[in-house]
Amino acid sequence: MAHSFLVTTAIPEPGLQLLSDAGRVTVLPEPPGYEALAALCASGDFDVVLTQLRDVIDAPLLAGARLRGVSNFAVGYNNIDVDAATRHGILVGNTPGVLTDATADIAMLLILGTARRVVEADRLVREGKFLGWEPELLLGRDVSGAVLGLAGFGRIARATARRALGFGMEVLFAPRPPGDRPVSAEELGEFAGRVRQVPWDELVERSDFLSLHVPLNDQTRHLVDAAVLERMKPGAILINTARGPVVDEAALVDALRNRVIAGAGLDVFEDEPKLAPGLAELPNTVLLPHVGSATVPVRSEMARLSALNAVAIAEGRIPPHPVNHLAGT
Ligand code: GLV
Repeated sequence: MAHSFLVTTAIPEPGLQLLSDAGRVTVLPEPPGYEALAALCASGDFDVVLTQLRDVIDAPLLAGARLRGVSNFAVGYNNIDVDAATRHGILVGNTPGVLTDATADIAMLLILGTARRVVEADRLVREGKFLGWEPELLLGRDVSGAVLGLAGFGRIARATARRALGFGMEVLFAPRPPGDRPVSAEELGEFAGRVRQVPWDELVERSDFLSLHVPLNDQTRHLVDAAVLERMKPGAILINTARGPVVDEAALVDALRNRVIAGAGLDVFEDEPKLAPGLAELPNTVLLPHVGSATVPVRSEMARLSALNAVAIAEGRIPPHPVNHLAGT
């Protein structure tokens, strides 16, 4: 019998072609709500569902699902209860590696954009208020010589470090905030002697730019809360390209309003696509619509990897990028 794939939102090529070469493909015309998706997953009509971050694949849905697998069109998979999937014998795949540089570019863009007040500057020009060069027009800050603190030291943090070093920044990192783990010189590799590990508390207190690169889980939810914001430098800028709920967004709005910190560059939001009340009105922010991986080649690679994961799972093989392992596989 031909394999059958449910695709919750159309993905770029070669994703759909790879899936249709391997079986029957159903692409939903619009993103399904939770109940509709749960019913489709329980129908027994599909081997694998190809999901987006907005699709909530939680324990109750997985308990009723008649699926072999879930292939997430993302590197992060906080939308999926992976432990529940494993318990129900459902494999999960993701798309690591291909979006590392693109996402680090966006982190660097947010660092530069907040430092040099790009949104305010753009608005001023468009509003016809640029009246010629002025000695004190829109003065920003230097990134060279500034301290960049990386919360996390995985692929995207390292790619951000590489860029920041090129801009003359001093780079500190805490590998697994709020906890710790020693990172050996060998693990540091190309960064040995160029970046320095510090405890999370010190990272918070010393960073001019604090950039978040942690997965969202029970340990990192609200990692940056009111107490952390209070301990940051008054001139510090928070950068988030990871996951919105890593930051208590209401506390961030208060901190920005009251100048507890100086600014924020955000590509992700706590309750996406909604923004915390007041955030959009703050001038000292750069706000992007979760576009870390949004380049044509990267989205095409993500489509390819997610399709390859889906096809492998449907054929009873271990996917090229598994998130979980089932007993006996
Ligand atoms: C995007 O946020 C991803 O996890 O790929």
